[in-house]
Amino acid sequence: NTKITIAIDGFSSTGKSTLAKQLAQQLGYIYVDTGAMYRAVAYFAMQENIISSSGFDKTALIAALPSIQLLFQFNEVLGFAEMYLNNENVETQIRTIEVSSFVSKVAEVSEVRAKLVEQQQEMGKNKGIVMDGRDIGTVVFPDAELKIFMTASAATRAQRRFAELQQKGDKVSYEEVLKNVEERDYIDTHRADSPLIIAKDAIEIDNSDLGKEEQFKIVLDLVHEVI
Ligand code: C5P
Repeated sequence: NTKITIAIDGFSSTGKSTLAKQLAQQLGYIYVDTGAMYRAVAYFAMQENIISSSGFDKTALIAALPSIQLLFQFNEVLGFAEMYLNNENVETQIRTIEVSSFVSKVAEVSEVRAKLVEQQQEMGKNKGIVMDGRDIGTVVFPDAELKIFMTASAATRAQRRFAELQQKGDKVSYEEVLKNVEERDYIDTHRADSPLIIAKDAIEIDNSDLGKEEQFKIVLDLVHEVI
């Protein structure tokens, strides 16, 4: 019963985390949401006035990196790990549209990526992990035994994210969410360091017309082809 590494990459709001969580639970693996780590750094930068709608002081963020401590802590009640930034639970704060609007700019900074990638590799060193993000199959775990790349149309994805935010009581418009999804996709695919690309050996799944259960079954079958 060998443990493997499963890398799940793809565009924003393709349901990567839902699938990754489900898989990890089924296999008894660790689940790591790397987007939460980039979001926590963006939230930190917002709190420190390093990033705002009027600008982004990259040098200040790089200088502050050693004082940013990120930790996942498993919540027994919820059944998944929550993000802690310098010992504060920031799970709710990092999911706002405001953080979403800054996170991709923060994620362009190589020094930020280097710090987070190192921590991600450490978490996965014993395998038995499902990690989702943008560069997991290409940079973090290029030797992952299974790599999935998830896509869906921007409209489908914006609709899903919009419903999610609405349910949380966030007052955003569909247009605002669509704009954010498109902006992040653009920055994520065009940045110099670790852009979002499909790893050569990744299996692409377009889930525009797939339900959660169908997707889960497809990926679980792929897992069983490997182990
Ligand atoms: O996955 P999620 O949508 O929460 O990720 C938020 C943002 O964090 C992405 O749009 C991307 O800019 C950045 N990110 C990244 N590399 C990862 C995970 C997320 O650059 N591995």
